[in-house]
This record gives sequence, C-alpha cells and structure tokens, in this order.
Amino acid sequence: MCGIFAYINYLVPRDRKFILDCLIKGLQRLEYRGYDSAGIAFDGGNESPDVIKKPETKIVKKKGKVRALEEELACEKDMKLDIEYDIHCGIAHTRWATHGAPCAINSHPQRSDVNNEFVVVHNGIVTNYRDIKKVLESKDYVFESETDTEVIAKLCKYVYDHRENEDMSFRELVEVVIAQLEGAFALCFKSIHYPSQCVGTRRGSPLLIGVKTKGNLSSNFVPILYRDNRGREFQDDVAYNREAKETGSSVEENNKSTDSAFKRSFSTTDFEVSGDIKAAEYFFASDASAIIEHTNRVIYLEDDDVAAVMDGCLSIHRMKKEEGESMSREVQTLKMEIQQIMKGNYQYFMQKEIFEQPESVINTMRGRVNFKDKEVILGGLQDHLSEIHRCRRLLFIACGTSYHSAIATRQLLEELTELPVVVELASDFLDRRTPIFRDDICFFISQSGETADTLNALRYCKKRGALTVGITNTVGSSISRETTCGVHINAGPEIGVASTKAYTSQFISLVMFGLVMNQDRISTRSRRNEIIEALENLPNLIKEVLEMDDDIKKLAEELYEQKSILLMGRGFNYATCLEGALKIKELTYLHSEGILAGELKHGPLALVDKAMPVIMIIMKDSMYTKCQNALHEVTARGCAPILICQKGDTESQSKASRVIELPGTVDCLQGILCVIPLQLLAFHTAVLRGYDVDCPRNLAKSVTVE
Ligand code: UD1
Ligand code: BG6
Repeated sequence: MCGIFAYINYLVPRDRKFILDCLIKGLQRLEYRGYDSAGIAFDGGNESPDVIKKPETKIVKKKGKVRALEEELACEKDMKLDIEYDIHCGIAHTRWATHGAPCAINSHPQRSDVNNEFVVVHNGIVTNYRDIKKVLESKDYVFESETDTEVIAKLCKYVYDHRENEDMSFRELVEVVIAQLEGAFALCFKSIHYPSQCVGTRRGSPLLIGVKTKGNLSSNFVPILYRDNRGREFQDDVAYNREAKETGSSVEENNKSTDSAFKRSFSTTDFEVSGDIKAAEYFFASDASAIIEHTNRVIYLEDDDVAAVMDGCLSIHRMKKEEGESMSREVQTLKMEIQQIMKGNYQYFMQKEIFEQPESVINTMRGRVNFKDKEVILGGLQDHLSEIHRCRRLLFIACGTSYHSAIATRQLLEELTELPVVVELASDFLDRRTPIFRDDICFFISQSGETADTLNALRYCKKRGALTVGITNTVGSSISRETTCGVHINAGPEIGVASTKAYTSQFISLVMFGLVMNQDRISTRSRRNEIIEALENLPNLIKEVLEMDDDIKKLAEELYEQKSILLMGRGFNYATCLEGALKIKELTYLHSEGILAGELKHGPLALVDKAMPVIMIIMKDSMYTKCQNALHEVTARGCAPILICQKGDTESQSKASRVIELPGTVDCLQGILCVIPLQLLAFHTAVLRGYDVDCPRNLAKSVTVE
C-alpha cells in the first residue's frame, strides 16, 4: 500500500540537498510496498530561513517511480540546494491509487489551497470524504484532485480559518480534523502556519516515529497526554510511573538524571527531547524500513494517538482516556535488517500476503458494507444498477485465479440475482468469438487490470454494445479505465506472483455485488442478513484459520515429495479445489488437479488408489451428503484422503488420514476459509522443495501478452 515518510531536523543543520535526499531515500525504502506515484513537500524559496518568518511550502509530485520524482526535482534549476536549515520539516509519500487514477494531481502531498497552507500525506481510505467534500464545496472550497485525502487538507484550512482560539496548536487543529474522519488512515501534516512542526496520527494504518538524538536516552517511555473535560492537558502520573518503574524509568528517575535526552518537563507537562544536547531528528514512516538506516530507536503509535513534533519536543496525545490502556509508548530498539523489515516477520511476500487477509478483506468491505443497518453500497455501480437489473444475463470473464473467484461465487450470484450467470475463461471466450448482446452485462475480473486476454475480451464486448464492469485491484489500470463502471477491490498491492489476498477480495467484491442486486427483495432478507453477519465475522475466522499454519506446514512435510495431488469438492467448494490446485502447480511444480466431486465416476476415479494423495473438502452445507458419497467412493479404492472439514464433523473424519478442521461460516463464504489452508500448503510445499515462492518459474505477475 501507500508509504509515508517525514523528516524533521531540530538544531541539526541540514542543507536542502540533504533534506531532499533524505526524503527521496525514505521513499525508496518504501517502494517495495507497491505504488504508482510519489511526491514530497518541503520549505521552498531561496531566501535564508533566518530572515523569513513563514516559509512557503513547495510540493513536487510525479506519476511513476521515485526515480521519476528525483528527476523532476533535478529539473528545478532555480532552486538553491545549499540553503541551510537548523529546523525543518519535510513530508513525502508513495501512493497506491484507490481514489482517482495515478497522476501527479492525485498524488500526495494533497494541499489545502494554492498557497499550500496545509499539506498532508495519507495512507488508507477516508470513507466519508464525499460528505465532507460536499460541505466544503458549499463553502467555496475548490477541489483539484479525485482523492479522498484532499478533504483532509482542506478541512485543516477550514478549521484554522475558523478557530476561536488564536493560539490553537497544530496538534489541536489536527485533532479537530481527524474527529471528522471515518475510515482508516495514517497521516502526516505540515503547515506554513506552524513552521518546522510535524503532526502524525493513525487509525487503522501503521505509523511509527524514529528518534535520533546525540545524547543517550535514559527513558524508554513517552508518556501519553490527555485532555480533561475543561480542555486542559494532563498526564496520568501515577499510572505512568507504575508502568515505567517496571523498567526503571519513572518520571522521578528521569528528572533526576541530568544527561537524560528524553526528559519530562513539569513546567509544560510536555515530554521533551532535551537534556544537555537539544539537537534531535525525527522520522515518521509507515514502516521501519525507511527509518532503520537513520536510527534504531522507534516508537510505534497506537490507533488514535496524535504525535506532534514542535521545537524539538515530541509529545503524544490522546483525546480520551480509556480504562486499562497503556499510559505511555515505549521507545523500542530495532535489531532488524532492512530486508527483514520489508517482509515484516515473513520470509516471502506471498506468505505476508496470505497473512494480510484478515485486513485486506476489511479494506475490501470498508465504506461499502454497513453491518449495523445490513446494507451494502458499491459506489462504482450505483448509477448502473437499474440497467444491470434489466439485463439478459451476467457474464464473468477472467483468467487464472480471477476466473476462480467467479466460479466460487457463481452459485450465490445466481441465487441472489435470479439471472443467468455465465463464467468464461477470457482466452476461450475470445477463441470462440462468443455471441454478446447489447443487453448483456459483462464483468472483467483482474487483479492487475492489465491481463491481455481479459482486456481483449473487454474490448470485444464493448464493441458489441454490452455494459462492461471491472472488478480490479489496480486503480488507473487499463481494465479500470476502459470499463463503463466497476469495483476496486482494495486488497492492496500484491507482490507475490501467485495471487492470494486478491482472490479473497475478489470473492468478497462479487458477494457484495450479489447483495447489492438483492437489496430490495424482502423474501430473501434473512439470507442477506445471514451473509452480512458472516462477512462481519469473517476477518476473525480468517485469523483463526491462519493460526493453523504449523499444522499445515507438517502436512506439507508429508506431501512435498509426492508427484501429484488431487483436490476434490463440489458446490461452493469446487472453485476452492481449482484454486488450491492452481496454487500447488504454480508454486511447487507438482501436478495437481481440482476435481468436481460429482464428476469422479466419469474419469478421475481411475486415478485413485492407495498411493494417490487426495485432499477432499467436505463442509456442512447442502452438498454434505453428496460429498460423503464421494468420500466413500475414494475410500473404497484404498485411499485415505486428507480432509478439510468443519470442526466436529466426526463422521467424515473417521475415514481420513489427516484432518484440517475449520471454523464454519455461511455456506457461500466458506470457500474463503477453505482456500487459506491450501494457499499455506502450496507455500510450505514450495519452500520445502526449494523453489522461489515469490517468482515461480515461467510465470509473470501481469500477463500482458496473449
Ligand atoms: C470509493 C473509493 C474506495 C472506497 C469506497 C468506500 C474511489 C475511487 N474509491 O469506492 O477506495 O473503498 O469508496 O469508501 O473513490 N471503476 C471502473 N472500473 C473498474 C473499477 C472501478 O470503471 O474496474 C469505476 C467505478 O464505477 C467508479 C470509480 O471507478 O466510478 C471508482 O470505483 P470504486 O473505487 O470501486 O468506487 P467506490 O465503491 O465508490
Ligand atoms: C497470471 C498470474 O497468470 O495472471 C495469476 O500469475 C493471475 O496469479 C492471472 O491469476 C490473472 O491475472 P489478473 O491480474 O488478470 O487477475
């Protein structure tokens, strides 16, 4: 996803060249997260900072790589690079588009107005930005980008211009602004009204602060400041001391220490970075990879923390004091290498992406599923729903994993829309020159949004007058641009070639589409409610499944020397078998086949004997009895399959050689939980076989040729 980096130097003289290099380097370290454009904001003008009171803010943004941004900066011939700043704040960003295509104007920093009074960088999604935008537009604010982020910058200016208290601090202003925001975010702010100050905050997206001081830190804790109901700040000294004493760094002890670099000043109730040597540098970033080369001392912010750097002091504030929450943030010492940080605790990107699924599915639903009122809104389809309702049939066209997401949801879409649903492999669809009519609705599902066959199928359908709908993970991609309308799945960038989190997010997007189509039908309300409730609980269940990683690894140890693995299932889990088999083939280079259990007798049974590894998926849904029959057919041939079943299904388990017991959810979402053990199995098997998990041989992430 997007990356934030900010650099603040206080009494550490740095020339502009150093500052720009530092910001660019920070962005380069975040490149691995995936992005499509980049930008920075810093103090502009060529006058000496000693003579100007309010330095202007200069913004430079560019579509494409950080390299392109660097080149853009190099073109600024009139900009003096040797101006020296004792105090300065610069903010930077790599953007992965969610609102508006990748281009300079949509890149961050976003600004409040043409004078760049407030600039902001943002990770995440502000779900109520349309409402805020409407209000601000009614007050004559003119928006220049398509982003949700721009409302944040504009809101800063609005709050500043209407403040009652002339002394309102930057941090207080940000607190007022974020109180209006819904959704998820990590934010860093810079303003000409608060020169050289930086405010950072988070809710749902990570943000951490690196601290570099000349002096040694004697305290490992930054206390949290709260505000009482009369607006005065306070700190819970008792609780803080209790907490800090456990590591021997209480307030009293800190203040006794004269060489302490972090010291609490009782006069201001602020926690200062001061001591004998006041010089300090701060680095705000989305992850430690951008910070580690400067300092290994970092503070991880918690949701709703507002951190402000002013006159070299760092303070962390919270609006409300909740019972039992920590009174401080620990200054942690990182012992990791950059490579390690980029992949988090994971060895491979694919592994990281599998484990990101509890969050990526939330991002897909964010702002779209209202769990309280049991309503689903897909903003991208809203204007076309009546046309879609009137159609002759729905066609879903895709390749690979994306195709499987359509197979996985076909049954539910038929049930919820009561329309004929056709699922097509893009290459075959084109080969057949399939007849398409004006009253067809054609969906094109693609993680990358660039797959050549899918794109060609889109152009083919468009020519024939059908309404085209994209389901893509990449805003600004060809499919996103060329379709009439669509849904961005918001799974975040997927770096591993084998698709994992995009599959589950595509799956959920299609389920949401079914729910939108069914919205007004009273007869199916209880079914809808059941699905929406299950969607709400899904992230927790995904977490539960991911906890079985060690068991799956053991299974991989048993299987990795086999030559072939068959996967069998039917109904809602036929697609799970296809997708599981695809993951196994592409990563492990073993033969693997997803077989519809209903087809067993018509051929595949000939393959089954004692030696053939078989994985069967049997869930407690309407296919349960039929799956039991398949299980009998397989066991009668001497095969004891590996069973993926629901917790407590002892009947099926008695016939299996190994069992993966999963939590149950509503039938139509069970495929999401069932596919995860197979993603993990493919991953561990590939590692055991010594293959490159992130880049399997002969495969590409984005297949842009037919
Ligand atoms: C918007 C946000 C989204 C956020 C959601 C809920 C934008 C661009 N997106 O999504 O990040 O999660 O609110 O707060 O503001 N489109 C196509 N083809 C495609 C995909 C999309 O034409 O393949 C079009 C859509 O019809 C729409 C626009 O692109 O006009 C944005 O789509 P999407 O991001 O899915 O819209 P929202 O659901 O409104
Ligand atoms: C490639 C990838 O083959 O393209 C697969 O390796 C992917 O993982 C397929 O499913 C389709 O890609 P997209 O981007 O259209 O979903």
